[in-house]
Amino acid sequence: MRKFLLAATLILLMGGGCASCAFADQSAPPSAPSAQAAQDGPIQSKLPDDVERNLPDEPLVAAQHGMVVSAQHLATRIGVDILKQGGNAVDAAVAVGYALAVVHPCCGNIGGGGFMTIHLADGKNLFLDFREKAPLAATPEMMQSAAGKVVKGRSTKTYLGVGVPGTVMGFDEALKKYGTMKLQQVIAPAIKLAKDGYVLQPGDVHILDTSTDFFKQYPNVALTFLDNGQPWKAGQVLKQPQLAATLELIAKNGTRAFYEGPIAAAVVKASEANGGLLTLQDFKAYTVQWERPIECGYHGYTIYSAPPPSSGGTTICETLQIIAPYPFAEWGFHSTRSTHYFVEAERRAFADRNTYLGDPAFVDNPVTRLLSAEHAAELRASIKPDAATPSSEVQGSLGPYQATNTTHYSVVDDAGNAVAVTYTVNSYFGIKQIAGGTGFFLNNEMDDFTSKPGVPNQFGLVQGKANQIEPGKRPLSSMSPTIVLKNGRLRMVTGSPGGSTIISTTMESILNVVEHDMDVKQAIDAPRIHMQWWPDEIFAEPGAFTPTVQSALEAMGYKIRDVHSMGDIAAIVVNPETGMLESVNDPRYPAGSAAGY
Ligand code: DON
Repeated sequence: MRKFLLAATLILLMGGGCASCAFADQSAPPSAPSAQAAQDGPIQSKLPDDVERNLPDEPLVAAQHGMVVSAQHLATRIGVDILKQGGNAVDAAVAVGYALAVVHPCCGNIGGGGFMTIHLADGKNLFLDFREKAPLAATPEMMQSAAGKVVKGRSTKTYLGVGVPGTVMGFDEALKKYGTMKLQQVIAPAIKLAKDGYVLQPGDVHILDTSTDFFKQYPNVALTFLDNGQPWKAGQVLKQPQLAATLELIAKNGTRAFYEGPIAAAVVKASEANGGLLTLQDFKAYTVQWERPIECGYHGYTIYSAPPPSSGGTTICETLQIIAPYPFAEWGFHSTRSTHYFVEAERRAFADRNTYLGDPAFVDNPVTRLLSAEHAAELRASIKPDAATPSSEVQGSLGPYQATNTTHYSVVDDAGNAVAVTYTVNSYFGIKQIAGGTGFFLNNEMDDFTSKPGVPNQFGLVQGKANQIEPGKRPLSSMSPTIVLKNGRLRMVTGSPGGSTIISTTMESILNVVEHDMDVKQAIDAPRIHMQWWPDEIFAEPGAFTPTVQSALEAMGYKIRDVHSMGDIAAIVVNPETGMLESVNDPRYPAGSAAGY
């Protein structure tokens, strides 16, 4: 029997907070198992009365043959169409990726980069790194003034923030190695959407509205992303003819069009005109990289996730190794004890993350040591049973907090192939600029590097030398496209946006399913928590704790920071009883959808 049932469906719509999350909704906490409820007091069944409620109740979707879940409903439908036409999960993933570049332009992209984790039906588990690289002329101090001060906005809003985009080469590589369809076939729906346009829904408009003031600054951006200088309204049709032309060039000439042809030339020209460092050589020298995914066992499950230059898989596996001996299922979801040990494990794993990890082409990442049983035992032994450990007592440097401006999607096909993709331009719409008439936003991924040791980036991330800027280096990421197997068979595909919170969000989605026996809807609706070493606080969505648990945690020395909403999960779970694929759109992101056949 399910240990957790959603007690009620509630909504939170709060002003302020992260602009990108302002529309996000919040569900009620699931009810806890009775033994834990007795210990922790009655479960909180409603949010405080002063909180406005308006949660769309997204239906759980079940399908036998294939499933796609993404942050934009049109992209999801394109993925399902490709599967129905006989394409495999990689074909569909590339089609969804190009479609999101059109219908989810804040985050879906060809001007950024990302990661793809693949589980093939024959048992192979793969990871493709198409993260952006720093330009060859980049230097560790390039974000600083002559006086050594980090220049505000340089890494986020100028061409100096742009890394060499990897998405087009990443998709090409995945499709050529493991797809069955031609690029022209999978990119065609995206071209059509860009050319003919698509009807904007309130969720789409809400995202565009976050950046209206920036769009107004750049005539070539305003041309498309504003309607005669005014924000687009829901119900209107957004056409992107310039992006359509760019995608047509890619369809015709493949990666060469992007990395050696007119697209690279247009980006370099705009970069040169605006003080950037990008050169044609940067584009020509760009490469993607197959890596072995990070792999770890947890309570009979095997987890495959993102290796460096992502910190995601390492931090997820390190945290899970620390908590593995504790009876989380018995303790219950977000009970005092399960929260205490989860948070203490995260505090220590994030301290390691922020201190040691960087691009493996430049840094010797001590992943084996971080994931060893000895290291887990050592960290576990340092957790006090009844009190929080101040972060000042945990070794390392300061850490991050980021918002939710990336996008994750998941695909499973009829043969049992599974693909998890997280890709990004970093901030919503990256630097919020488009090179000439190319039609796509350029990333500001250079801000993920350490601009200066000890100085936080746009999300408060204070990192060390392992992640300093170097020519051709990839910035450290938290993106964690993750696949979970049980006895070699697919159990779950998951991931999310949200900067450093990606790691917690992804991990909690897994724990909710494998420890707390939730179905995919319960696992995704459930409120989330996050701890990242610094700041020394637990980030908690509304309703994350019962009042009794919250008081108990505070008495143990925890500071709890209420956050409006963390990233949306796009997960597919195989129902262990029926074998059906199950998914749901995360209500935190109403523009998305899950669909299957
Ligand atoms: O790679 C990373 O970790 C970040 N560039 C992801 C950014 C994100 O999730 C959205 N931003 N706040």
